[in-house]
Amino acid sequence: MTSENNKERSMPVLTLTNLAKRYNRKVWGVRKMDLEVEDKEFVVFLGPSGCGKTTCMRMIAGLEVTTRGSIILHGKDITDLPPRNRDISMVFQNYAIWPHMTVYENIAFALKLQKKSRSEIDRTVKEVAAMVKIDQLLSRIPGQMSGGQQQRVALARALAVKPKLFLMDEPLSNLDAKLRVVMRTELKAIHQRTGATSIFVTHDQSEAMSMADRIVIMKDGEIVQVGTPDDVYFRSADMFVAGFIGTPPTNFFPVEMKTAGEKVELSHPRFAILISGSDADRLKNNGQNSLILGVRPEEIKVVPEKDSLLSVEVMVVEPQGSFQIVAVEIEGEIVKIVVGSAGKIQPGERLHLSFVEERLHFFNAETTKRI
Ligand SMILES: Nc1ncnc2c1ncn2[C@@H]1O[C@H](COP(=O)(O)OP(=O)(O)OP(=O)(O)O)[C@@H](O)[C@H]1O
Ligand SMILES: [Mg+2]
Repeated sequence: MTSENNKERSMPVLTLTNLAKRYNRKVWGVRKMDLEVEDKEFVVFLGPSGCGKTTCMRMIAGLEVTTRGSIILHGKDITDLPPRNRDISMVFQNYAIWPHMTVYENIAFALKLQKKSRSEIDRTVKEVAAMVKIDQLLSRIPGQMSGGQQQRVALARALAVKPKLFLMDEPLSNLDAKLRVVMRTELKAIHQRTGATSIFVTHDQSEAMSMADRIVIMKDGEIVQVGTPDDVYFRSADMFVAGFIGTPPTNFFPVEMKTAGEKVELSHPRFAILISGSDADRLKNNGQNSLILGVRPEEIKVVPEKDSLLSVEVMVVEPQGSFQIVAVEIEGEIVKIVVGSAGKIQPGERLHLSFVEERLHFFNAETTKRI
């Protein structure tokens, strides 16, 4: 392979630079987004309602005029191009497929507009229909199909045009919980087969974690963190991410820091822990004595009394089949713990707890950023 080819392959498919959208004097849809999406990547935009996910997708698709910044697709500036010239396919939440056309005609429609030959259209329709498993339904009209089947038609239609970029804005939100989980797996499988560079929007963190190569976490029109599912889970950039990713979310404890020789001691009204090594150095360098300790529910262990950091009374137990979520109260705050299903825990029971020390998270109490 020539170096020229290598260069081409490492070029991102999509580059957003300083992208912003202001709807009116008061409302910013997107304040600032900088992002590179690599070839064949499956990127998920995740964030609470109103954080700007749809606005960003609509700007990429050309359905919304940008206020600032640029959108580069395969090296070409498309910021001001009309949607039809962008080589982008979309499936949105309301995946309107044409009700009077058969599945076949729905999928073939865009290909006819592209003036593809009849035989090529036929081949492509059958190929994508097989991919999303609707090849038995090609002569049906949408009214004769379930929601999940209609959803697949919308996906097939978008895939048929073999876009440079595939945008999906909450495409599973109209489906019931069970079908969502099935379609989640199928979409991931379709992506693995087609390798189509994709951006997928959801506000469901578990959907994001299970599907994404990289997750873009957004809040108030800005990106808070970009990373793999492991990055955002194990190395959350701030308290917002730590609280948003994972169910139940991270537990937070305000603590005071004291230097103890090489080590530091973190004290909470109910417990004190000694931290050593590089964690201790980072905490010392942070320079603030009040900070927030983050502990994920599965990083709190039930231990024999002699090993315990603190003892608590069980408030509520939520059985989940393969595990139980145990809620306890510590200094007026509800703390959730994930415990295996062996040995049923009862409300009122006393538990002795300790933390998995190498997995603790520390946050600056003022900025909320990870230390
Ligand atoms: N056409 C519009 N005119 C004015 N403000 C808008 C318009 N569309 C969206 N907004 C505002 O822009 C912000 C971002 O909206 P957007 O639809 O992008 O959020 P979202 O992340 O997609 O939310 P959701 O998860 O609810 O779909 C919100 O405050 C919203 O009220
Ligand atoms: Mg939206």
